[in-house]
Amino acid sequence: KQIAIFASGSGSNAEKIAEYLTNIPDVETTLILSNNPKAGVIDRARRLHIPVLLFDRTTFYESNQVTRLLQAQKIDLIVLAGFMWLMPSELVQAFPDRIVNIHPALLPKFGGKGMYGHFVHEAVVAAGETESGITIHYVNEHYDEGQIIFQASCPVAPTDSPEDVARHVQKLEHEHYPRIVAELVAAM
Ligand code: GRF
Repeated sequence: KQIAIFASGSGSNAEKIAEYLTNIPDVETTLILSNNPKAGVIDRARRLHIPVLLFDRTTFYESNQVTRLLQAQKIDLIVLAGFMWLMPSELVQAFPDRIVNIHPALLPKFGGKGMYGHFVHEAVVAAGETESGITIHYVNEHYDEGQIIFQASCPVAPTDSPEDVARHVQKLEHEHYPRIVAELVAAM
Protein backbone atom coordinates (compact mmCIF):
# COMPACT_ATOMS: atom_id res chain seq x y z
CA LYS A 1 0.00 0.00 0.00
CA GLN A 2 1.16 3.52 -0.70
CA ILE A 3 0.50 6.71 1.21
CA ALA A 4 1.08 10.35 0.38
CA ILE A 5 1.47 12.95 3.13
CA PHE A 6 0.56 16.65 2.73
CA ALA A 7 2.22 19.14 5.10
CA SER A 8 2.62 22.91 5.14
CA GLY A 9 4.91 23.38 8.10
CA SER A 10 7.50 21.72 10.27
CA GLY A 11 6.35 18.20 9.35
CA SER A 12 6.97 16.50 12.70
CA ASN A 13 3.80 14.45 12.21
CA ALA A 14 4.80 13.56 8.65
CA GLU A 15 8.18 12.41 9.91
CA LYS A 16 6.75 10.31 12.74
CA ILE A 17 4.28 8.66 10.36
CA ALA A 18 6.92 7.93 7.69
CA GLU A 19 9.31 6.52 10.30
CA TYR A 20 6.58 4.34 11.83
CA LEU A 21 5.60 2.94 8.42
CA THR A 22 9.18 1.96 7.52
CA ASN A 23 8.74 -0.88 10.04
CA ILE A 24 5.50 -2.07 8.45
CA PRO A 25 5.76 -4.46 5.52
CA ASP A 26 3.83 -3.61 2.33
CA VAL A 27 3.24 0.00 3.35
CA GLU A 28 5.37 2.86 2.12
CA THR A 29 5.32 6.65 2.16
CA THR A 30 5.60 7.25 -1.56
CA LEU A 31 5.44 11.02 -1.61
CA ILE A 32 5.39 14.09 0.60
CA LEU A 33 3.58 17.10 -0.84
CA SER A 34 3.65 20.71 0.28
CA ASN A 35 2.34 24.13 -0.67
CA ASN A 36 5.20 25.85 1.14
CA PRO A 37 8.71 25.86 -0.36
CA LYS A 38 10.09 26.89 3.04
CA ALA A 39 8.36 24.11 4.96
CA GLY A 40 10.54 22.21 7.43
CA VAL A 41 8.93 19.03 6.15
CA ILE A 42 11.10 19.30 3.01
CA ASP A 43 14.30 18.72 4.98
CA ARG A 44 12.69 15.95 6.97
CA ALA A 45 11.60 14.23 3.71
CA ARG A 46 15.09 14.58 2.29
CA ARG A 47 16.58 12.89 5.36
CA LEU A 48 13.98 10.14 4.99
CA HIS A 49 14.73 9.82 1.22
CA ILE A 50 11.09 10.49 0.38
CA PRO A 51 10.38 12.50 -2.80
CA VAL A 52 8.79 15.91 -2.27
CA LEU A 53 6.29 17.59 -4.57
CA LEU A 54 5.75 21.33 -4.18
CA PHE A 55 2.76 23.08 -5.68
CA ASP A 56 1.25 26.58 -5.70
CA ARG A 57 -2.37 27.71 -5.55
CA THR A 58 -2.79 27.78 -9.34
CA THR A 59 -1.55 24.23 -9.73
CA PHE A 60 -3.54 23.00 -6.77
CA TYR A 61 -6.85 24.72 -7.49
CA GLU A 62 -6.85 25.45 -11.22
CA SER A 63 -5.49 22.17 -12.56
CA ASN A 64 -5.96 18.56 -11.55
CA GLN A 65 -2.26 17.81 -11.87
CA VAL A 66 -1.95 16.86 -8.18
CA THR A 67 -4.94 14.53 -8.38
CA ARG A 68 -3.66 12.93 -11.57
CA LEU A 69 -0.22 12.44 -10.08
CA LEU A 70 -1.63 10.80 -6.93
CA GLN A 71 -3.74 8.50 -9.12
CA ALA A 72 -0.75 7.69 -11.34
CA GLN A 73 1.29 6.83 -8.23
CA LYS A 74 -1.58 4.55 -7.12
CA ILE A 75 -1.79 6.27 -3.73
CA ASP A 76 -4.11 4.32 -1.41
CA LEU A 77 -4.36 6.85 1.43
CA ILE A 78 -3.75 10.60 1.56
CA VAL A 79 -2.65 11.85 4.99
CA LEU A 80 -2.89 15.54 5.89
CA ALA A 81 -0.44 16.45 8.64
CA GLY A 82 -0.46 20.16 9.31
CA PHE A 83 -1.65 21.00 5.81
CA MET A 84 -3.17 24.48 5.84
CA TRP A 85 -5.19 24.62 2.62
CA LEU A 86 -8.68 23.30 1.88
CA MET A 87 -8.58 20.20 -0.32
CA PRO A 88 -10.02 20.88 -3.80
CA SER A 89 -13.36 19.14 -4.29
CA GLU A 90 -12.10 17.28 -7.39
CA LEU A 91 -9.31 15.78 -5.27
CA VAL A 92 -11.72 14.85 -2.45
CA GLN A 93 -14.07 13.28 -5.00
CA ALA A 94 -11.22 11.33 -6.63
CA PHE A 95 -10.29 9.79 -3.24
CA PRO A 96 -13.54 9.16 -1.35
CA ASP A 97 -12.88 8.06 2.26
CA ARG A 98 -9.20 7.97 1.37
CA ILE A 99 -8.12 11.31 2.85
CA VAL A 100 -7.53 11.74 6.59
CA ASN A 101 -6.55 14.74 8.69
CA ILE A 102 -5.50 15.45 12.24
CA HIS A 103 -6.98 18.42 14.03
CA PRO A 104 -5.28 19.60 17.26
CA ALA A 105 -8.52 19.84 19.26
CA LEU A 106 -11.56 17.77 20.23
CA LEU A 107 -13.94 18.33 17.27
CA PRO A 108 -16.67 19.39 16.84
CA LYS A 109 -15.45 22.03 19.28
CA PHE A 110 -12.74 24.41 18.04
CA GLY A 111 -13.02 23.39 14.41
CA GLY A 112 -13.56 25.15 11.12
CA LYS A 113 -11.76 27.81 9.14
CA GLY A 114 -9.20 29.80 11.04
CA MET A 115 -9.14 27.26 13.85
CA TYR A 116 -5.81 25.72 12.95
CA GLY A 117 -2.33 25.59 14.33
CA HIS A 118 -1.70 27.81 17.30
CA PHE A 119 -5.03 29.66 17.14
CA VAL A 120 -6.82 26.56 18.38
CA HIS A 121 -4.80 26.38 21.59
CA GLU A 122 -5.32 30.07 22.30
CA ALA A 123 -9.06 29.59 21.85
CA VAL A 124 -9.06 26.52 24.14
CA VAL A 125 -7.23 28.43 26.89
CA ALA A 126 -9.39 31.54 26.41
CA ALA A 127 -12.51 29.39 26.72
CA GLY A 128 -11.28 27.98 30.03
CA GLU A 129 -11.48 24.39 28.78
CA THR A 130 -10.32 21.72 31.23
CA GLU A 131 -9.26 19.36 28.46
CA SER A 132 -8.12 19.40 24.84
CA GLY A 133 -6.73 16.77 22.50
CA ILE A 134 -6.63 15.48 18.94
CA THR A 135 -9.19 14.43 16.37
CA ILE A 136 -8.30 12.23 13.40
CA HIS A 137 -11.06 12.37 10.80
CA TYR A 138 -11.88 11.75 7.17
CA VAL A 139 -11.66 14.83 4.98
CA ASN A 140 -14.54 16.15 2.95
CA GLU A 141 -15.01 19.49 1.25
CA HIS A 142 -15.88 21.31 4.45
CA TYR A 143 -12.66 21.35 6.46
CA ASP A 144 -13.12 19.60 9.79
CA GLU A 145 -16.57 18.05 9.27
CA GLY A 146 -15.63 14.58 8.00
CA GLN A 147 -16.42 11.40 9.96
CA ILE A 148 -14.32 11.14 13.12
CA ILE A 149 -11.96 8.14 13.22
CA PHE A 150 -10.15 8.63 16.55
CA GLN A 151 -9.88 11.10 19.42
CA ALA A 152 -7.54 11.34 22.42
CA SER A 153 -7.64 13.97 25.15
CA CYS A 154 -5.27 15.61 27.60
CA PRO A 155 -6.02 17.78 30.62
CA VAL A 156 -5.68 21.56 30.43
CA ALA A 157 -4.63 23.06 33.76
CA PRO A 158 -5.78 26.60 34.66
CA THR A 159 -2.12 27.61 34.65
CA ASP A 160 -1.50 26.17 31.16
CA SER A 161 -0.51 28.60 28.41
CA PRO A 162 -1.43 27.95 24.75
CA GLU A 163 2.18 26.79 24.34
CA ASP A 164 1.71 24.25 27.13
CA VAL A 165 -1.47 22.97 25.47
CA ALA A 166 0.27 22.82 22.08
CA ARG A 167 3.05 20.72 23.61
CA HIS A 168 0.64 18.28 25.25
CA VAL A 169 -1.49 18.02 22.09
CA GLN A 170 1.49 17.50 19.79
CA LYS A 171 2.65 14.68 22.06
CA LEU A 172 -0.76 13.00 21.50
CA GLU A 173 -0.45 13.56 17.75
CA HIS A 174 2.93 11.85 17.59
CA GLU A 175 1.73 9.07 19.88
CA HIS A 176 -1.41 8.19 17.90
CA TYR A 177 -1.43 9.43 14.28
CA PRO A 178 1.23 6.98 12.96
CA ARG A 179 -0.60 4.00 14.44
CA ILE A 180 -4.04 5.12 13.20
CA VAL A 181 -2.64 5.63 9.68
CA ALA A 182 -1.12 2.14 9.77
CA GLU A 183 -4.42 0.65 10.99
CA LEU A 184 -6.39 2.40 8.22
CA VAL A 185 -4.03 1.12 5.53
CA ALA A 186 -4.00 -2.41 6.99
CA ALA A 187 -7.81 -2.45 6.82
CA MET A 188 -7.87 -1.59 3.08
C1 GRF B 1 -0.14 20.00 14.26
O1 GRF B 1 -0.44 20.62 15.48
C2 GRF B 1 -1.41 19.58 13.59
O2 GRF B 1 -2.41 19.15 14.47
C3 GRF B 1 -1.84 20.86 12.95
O3 GRF B 1 -0.65 21.47 12.47
C4 GRF B 1 0.42 20.99 13.27
C5 GRF B 1 1.40 20.32 12.36
O4 GRF B 1 2.58 20.13 13.05
N1 GRF B 1 -2.76 20.60 11.89
P1 GRF B 1 3.81 19.44 12.20
O5 GRF B 1 4.01 20.27 10.96
O6 GRF B 1 3.36 18.03 11.88
O7 GRF B 1 4.97 19.48 13.14
